[in-house]
Amino acid sequence: MDKLAIIGGRPLYGELPISGAKNSALKVMVATLLSDQPLVLDNVPMLADIKQLTALLEQHGASIEREGARLTLHTPEVVSTTAPYELVRKMRASFNVLGPLLARMGEAKVSLPGGCAIGARPVDLHLKALEAMGAKIELEEGYVIASAKGGLKGAEVTFPFISVGATEHAMLAATLAKGQTVLKNAAREPEIIDLAECLNAMGAKVEDAGTSTIVITGVDRLDGGTHAVVPDRIEAGSYALAVGATGGELLLSHARLELLGAAKDSFEQAGIHMVQEEGGIRVTKDFDRPKPVNVVTQAYPGFPTDLQAQFMAVMAIADGVSTMKETIFENRYMHAPELARMGCDIHIDGQLATVRGKAVLKGAPVMATDLRASMSLIIAGLVAEGQTLVSRLYHLDRGFEKLDQKLHGVGALVERVKEDD
Ligand code: EPZ
Repeated sequence: MDKLAIIGGRPLYGELPISGAKNSALKVMVATLLSDQPLVLDNVPMLADIKQLTALLEQHGASIEREGARLTLHTPEVVSTTAPYELVRKMRASFNVLGPLLARMGEAKVSLPGGCAIGARPVDLHLKALEAMGAKIELEEGYVIASAKGGLKGAEVTFPFISVGATEHAMLAATLAKGQTVLKNAAREPEIIDLAECLNAMGAKVEDAGTSTIVITGVDRLDGGTHAVVPDRIEAGSYALAVGATGGELLLSHARLELLGAAKDSFEQAGIHMVQEEGGIRVTKDFDRPKPVNVVTQAYPGFPTDLQAQFMAVMAIADGVSTMKETIFENRYMHAPELARMGCDIHIDGQLATVRGKAVLKGAPVMATDLRASMSLIIAGLVAEGQTLVSRLYHLDRGFEKLDQKLHGVGALVERVKEDD
């Protein structure tokens, strides 16, 4: 298990390339199960989660080849409709194979994903949407056993609250259902639009993705297609926050400012300036300490839960007191006690975190607990005095492509070390 050693205190300067979005790539890859023709995906990041999903899709009969950032996926035949526990438990996004298998094969047996570090994360909304489309669903020994013998049927589904995963899952399944599906109170994340564009490139009829009512008209079959994955807004936001902590100036190449939603305004209030240029987003920061900003995490276009931990690291050095309210996940403050080891003053009370900014943080050995939490420790490490050693780096390898190389390329003193070094 690798660790990351960081010597803090260096501003970041230069160009840092932003990869394709992990959370989009994981959904568009699953679309291969809907067609017997090849699907070509560009801008797919090289990440542990992508490898994990590759193994699962191969198990269902997909052949997957990588050439740089291009993946070619081809599933001429589905050879297994079972997604085993060993492959699903490691990554929740694997659960999304259920709908496509059901839509193409009329049956599927997929392990329930179980809880994870940031909360219980049930899948009831996913199952209700599939049931509304006519699927018969039973739970047996930790597995969802689903069938739709005459095929799925279009339906009107109103989600009781917004779920990114359930919206995507229902969209995937509805492409091959008979008739029209209307998804109300749907998620509006850029990754939803990306999935719709990919499905439409394969011949699906998905309309109004990016609004809260998505209309999908089922087709008999999907073709192959080519699609480039949208740039990763969370990766871009994370590196912009790194500049917010250390100072300097970065060009986040390929990044798109409009994808950042409300986060853009919160960053601006903190003194982190982002301007869209032809090649990407240019990030600079005010000379003095960041200003305190209160944020509440919300579904897109609200402030994303996936940037809450990183924003907290910047607020930890702000000139004043700020608050954060996490409304999406119940257990997403695990970075707070680790940040406290570096001198951050953070008080957690249920959903609310109160952060009293300090002028100076001190490097310390800290432990990563989940993907985005790990990034917040790195941001704190980049600005802290002395050395920070972040252990359990595998969390980062799930979602930040070439993190150490990218940071090194813009002047950070970071080094990946083996656990036993
Ligand atoms: C996606 O998770 C992302 N993951 C998450 O990113 C992200 O934090 C989240 O959306 C919110 O933006 C992927 O795209 C792979 P949800 P997802 O369904 O789809 C509850 C990261 O760090 N819920 O919108 O699982 C759920 O427990 C990850 O990259 C139900 O109760 O999120 C949560 O409290 C972490 N029943 C809330 O809804 C359901 O059936 C929103 O979850 C589904 C969800």
